[in-house]
Amino acid sequence: MSETPLLDPWDQLPIGDKAIIVGVHLPQSSSPFVEDLEELKALLKTLGVEVRDQVVQNRQKLNPACLIGRGKALELKDLVAQKGANMVVFDRPLSPPQMRNLEKLIGVAILDRTGVILEIFSHHARTSMAKTQVEIARLEYLLPRMTGAWTHFGRQTGGGVRSRGMGETQIEVDRRRARERMSRLRQKLSHFDKEGRTRRKARAQEWKVALVGYTNSGKTTLMRMLTRSQNREENALFATLDTNIKVLDPSTRPKVLITDTVGFIRNLPHKLIESFKSTLQEVLEADVLVHVVDVSHENYREQMKTTEQVLKDLGADHLPVLYVFNKVDALDDMILPRILMSCYKNAMVISAHRPSDIEQLREFVVEFFARNLKHARLLVKATDHATMATIHSHCLILESDYSQEDTVLFHLQATEAMLAKLKDHVIPDHAQLAEQT
Ligand code: GTP
Repeated sequence: MSETPLLDPWDQLPIGDKAIIVGVHLPQSSSPFVEDLEELKALLKTLGVEVRDQVVQNRQKLNPACLIGRGKALELKDLVAQKGANMVVFDRPLSPPQMRNLEKLIGVAILDRTGVILEIFSHHARTSMAKTQVEIARLEYLLPRMTGAWTHFGRQTGGGVRSRGMGETQIEVDRRRARERMSRLRQKLSHFDKEGRTRRKARAQEWKVALVGYTNSGKTTLMRMLTRSQNREENALFATLDTNIKVLDPSTRPKVLITDTVGFIRNLPHKLIESFKSTLQEVLEADVLVHVVDVSHENYREQMKTTEQVLKDLGADHLPVLYVFNKVDALDDMILPRILMSCYKNAMVISAHRPSDIEQLREFVVEFFARNLKHARLLVKATDHATMATIHSHCLILESDYSQEDTVLFHLQATEAMLAKLKDHVIPDHAQLAEQT
């Protein structure tokens, strides 16, 4: 008999650790099928799941009852026993009834691609907002599936009081509790969203960098290394609820803010993109994207393509990109870094574990922005405290002349947007004067 799936309610979906993966190939499939299956294997590996075998079925159309044919499902049952597997993972989304039917036929935990991605996201979520988003997405996924192997869900949940209403079965209690929890989490999320909008407005004049890249490429490590030694007070301004927005270098004006995002995965289910909208919003509002690539990974090219596709799906493919080829310390190939540097214009090959590389990356990003600063001379009344404050917090002051009694003359660098805001104080240069006359 096959082993019982491992269960860890609320923290984990009911998954095993030895899987058979199943791909269903349709004649009209647009996605590269072999690569999808390879990716699924790699994703399961990151979850510590060993893939014992893979099964592929070519079908004209999907079987509404159990995706694959009934005969194939029974063959899978034998294969599971033969290979000592305790889970079957499908590379396509399964509806809750399909999952139940398959579970009955095969007798072990059944999971689909969305479930695997959710599991990875929940392992990697670090900020309160990301954790809340993942938990809502996971509960949404679990709720209609709370039967069969999934009935164990909630059985061991803590909290002591397991008040069961009159005539309520265990499963009804579990579902009710899941719904209650979801509604509390949604309230929490709407609070984050509101805060996020206010903070985004406040950050409108700052420069924003978003770290994007395939899952496990090293975004969080880079974010931590890049901002570790930075001024805590500066960062406290942004470290409210989502601590994943930090100041890259406190000395720059405007400030450069950096944010980490969820890992990108091929065919990210739309429902999940929806759940992570607020986090991904940071990508859309960035001035530049830093695309982090794990160059030591044998499939780094496919991972780059996946990230580019997700960016396209998000409508963020028009943004400028700086490429950071990370994990060079784990790379044996000495030639590849040189090839990459000659192929990509705005690129660096680094190791997030080397402090000197981190320093260079910081300079690389700051310089990218500095190239877009404009020089200007401004005359401001000494009593105009609001303008003075704006200049000090958003412009790079090169010289200030306080020799006049009631006005201050600044020579500074600022973004075009900031100069537009300060236009009443800008002294037109000779060329502009000539143009005006
Ligand atoms: P997601 O949250 O899934 O998107 O992952 P991530 O891109 O944030 O990756 P993370 O920073 O969590 O790093 C993944 C793993 O790679 C960790 O074990 C890191 O320690 C490791 N790592 C990151 N950078 C480097 C590097 O330059 N060299 C080596 N050898 N390992 C690295």
